[in-house]
Amino acid sequence: RVQAIKNRGYITVGLSADYAPLEFHATVDGQDKIVGADVSLAKKIAKDMGVKLQIKEMGFDALIGGLKTGKVDMVISGMSKTPERAKQVNFSKPYMYEKQIVVIRKSDKSKYKNVADFSGAT
Ligand code: ARG
Repeated sequence: RVQAIKNRGYITVGLSADYAPLEFHATVDGQDKIVGADVSLAKKIAKDMGVKLQIKEMGFDALIGGLKTGKVDMVISGMSKTPERAKQVNFSKPYMYEKQIVVIRKSDKSKYKNVADFSGAT
Protein backbone atom coordinates (compact mmCIF):
# COMPACT_ATOMS: atom_id res chain seq x y z
CA ARG A 1 0.00 0.00 0.00
CA VAL A 2 2.84 2.39 0.77
CA GLN A 3 4.36 1.63 -2.62
CA ALA A 4 1.01 2.26 -4.31
CA ILE A 5 0.79 5.66 -2.60
CA LYS A 6 4.33 6.53 -3.70
CA ASN A 7 3.60 5.50 -7.28
CA ARG A 8 0.42 7.55 -7.23
CA GLY A 9 2.35 10.55 -5.90
CA TYR A 10 0.00 11.64 -3.15
CA ILE A 11 -1.43 10.45 0.15
CA THR A 12 -4.96 11.25 1.24
CA VAL A 13 -5.83 12.26 4.79
CA GLY A 14 -9.39 12.36 6.07
CA LEU A 15 -10.29 15.01 8.59
CA SER A 16 -13.19 17.03 9.91
CA ALA A 17 -12.04 20.65 9.82
CA ASP A 18 -14.10 21.88 12.74
CA TYR A 19 -11.70 21.26 15.59
CA ALA A 20 -9.28 24.13 16.19
CA PRO A 21 -6.41 24.20 16.86
CA LEU A 22 -5.95 20.76 15.28
CA GLU A 23 -7.89 21.21 12.03
CA PHE A 24 -9.94 24.22 11.02
CA HIS A 25 -10.63 26.62 8.20
CA ALA A 26 -8.66 29.86 8.09
CA THR A 27 -8.27 32.61 5.57
CA VAL A 28 -4.63 32.67 4.46
CA ASP A 29 -3.61 35.36 1.93
CA GLY A 30 -7.28 35.89 1.16
CA GLN A 31 -7.85 32.19 0.49
CA ASP A 32 -9.77 29.66 2.52
CA LYS A 33 -7.39 26.96 3.80
CA ILE A 34 -7.57 23.99 6.12
CA VAL A 35 -4.84 24.43 8.71
CA GLY A 36 -3.85 23.25 12.16
CA ALA A 37 -1.46 20.98 14.01
CA ASP A 38 -2.95 17.83 12.46
CA VAL A 39 -2.56 19.31 8.99
CA SER A 40 1.10 20.04 9.76
CA LEU A 41 1.53 16.45 10.91
CA ALA A 42 -0.13 15.09 7.77
CA LYS A 43 2.11 17.29 5.61
CA LYS A 44 5.18 16.02 7.44
CA ILE A 45 4.14 12.41 6.84
CA ALA A 46 3.58 13.14 3.15
CA LYS A 47 6.91 14.93 2.89
CA ASP A 48 8.75 12.05 4.57
CA MET A 49 7.17 9.68 2.05
CA GLY A 50 8.10 11.99 -0.80
CA VAL A 51 4.50 12.48 -1.93
CA LYS A 52 1.96 15.29 -1.96
CA LEU A 53 -0.84 15.58 0.58
CA GLN A 54 -4.46 15.57 -0.46
CA ILE A 55 -6.91 16.59 2.26
CA LYS A 56 -10.36 15.04 2.12
CA GLU A 57 -12.74 16.89 4.38
CA MET A 58 -15.64 14.92 5.77
CA GLY A 59 -17.88 14.80 8.77
CA PHE A 60 -16.18 13.37 11.84
CA ASP A 61 -18.56 10.40 11.92
CA ALA A 62 -17.70 9.52 8.31
CA LEU A 63 -13.95 9.25 8.90
CA ILE A 64 -13.71 5.66 10.05
CA GLY A 65 -15.97 4.46 7.24
CA GLY A 66 -13.91 6.48 4.78
CA LEU A 67 -10.76 4.81 6.01
CA LYS A 68 -12.29 1.33 5.92
CA THR A 69 -13.51 1.72 2.35
CA GLY A 70 -10.22 3.18 1.16
CA LYS A 71 -11.61 6.63 0.42
CA VAL A 72 -8.70 7.97 2.48
CA ASP A 73 -5.30 6.47 3.29
CA MET A 74 -5.24 7.73 6.87
CA VAL A 75 -7.28 9.75 9.34
CA ILE A 76 -5.71 12.55 11.39
CA SER A 77 -8.51 14.46 13.02
CA GLY A 78 -7.96 14.75 16.74
CA MET A 79 -9.39 11.27 16.98
CA SER A 80 -9.13 9.56 20.33
CA LYS A 81 -8.71 5.82 20.55
CA THR A 82 -11.80 4.16 21.93
CA PRO A 83 -12.42 0.41 22.25
CA GLU A 84 -15.31 0.68 19.78
CA ARG A 85 -13.18 2.41 17.13
CA ALA A 86 -10.19 0.14 17.76
CA LYS A 87 -12.32 -2.83 16.71
CA GLN A 88 -12.68 -1.29 13.27
CA VAL A 89 -9.38 0.44 12.50
CA ASN A 90 -5.76 0.46 13.62
CA PHE A 91 -4.56 3.33 15.79
CA SER A 92 -1.00 4.66 15.91
CA LYS A 93 0.70 5.50 19.16
CA PRO A 94 -0.72 8.75 20.56
CA TYR A 95 0.90 11.91 19.23
CA MET A 96 -0.83 14.23 21.66
CA TYR A 97 -2.18 14.09 25.16
CA GLU A 98 -4.81 16.55 26.25
CA LYS A 99 -2.84 17.89 29.17
CA GLN A 100 -1.66 21.21 27.76
CA ILE A 101 -3.09 24.08 29.73
CA VAL A 102 -3.21 27.87 29.50
CA VAL A 103 -1.27 29.33 32.41
CA ILE A 104 -2.07 32.66 34.02
CA ARG A 105 -0.82 34.59 37.01
CA LYS A 106 -2.28 33.81 40.45
CA SER A 107 -3.36 37.45 40.75
CA ASP A 108 -5.54 37.09 37.61
CA LYS A 109 -7.33 34.04 38.89
CA SER A 110 -10.68 35.73 39.41
CA LYS A 111 -10.42 37.70 36.15
CA TYR A 112 -10.11 34.78 33.71
CA LYS A 113 -12.52 31.95 34.37
CA ASN A 114 -13.11 30.75 30.81
CA VAL A 115 -12.04 31.32 27.21
CA ALA A 116 -14.54 34.13 26.70
CA ASP A 117 -12.85 36.14 29.45
CA PHE A 118 -9.80 36.45 27.20
CA SER A 119 -11.71 38.25 24.46
CA GLY A 120 -11.01 41.66 25.94
CA ALA A 121 -14.48 42.51 27.15
CA THR A 122 -13.34 43.07 30.73
N1 ARG B 1 -11.23 13.56 20.47
C1 ARG B 1 -12.63 13.45 20.26
C2 ARG B 1 -13.00 12.13 19.64
O1 ARG B 1 -12.14 11.43 19.15
C3 ARG B 1 -13.18 14.58 19.40
C4 ARG B 1 -12.48 14.72 18.08
C5 ARG B 1 -13.19 15.67 17.16
N2 ARG B 1 -12.40 15.92 15.99
C6 ARG B 1 -12.81 16.67 14.94
N3 ARG B 1 -11.98 16.84 13.94
N4 ARG B 1 -14.00 17.22 14.94
O2 ARG B 1 -14.15 11.78 19.63
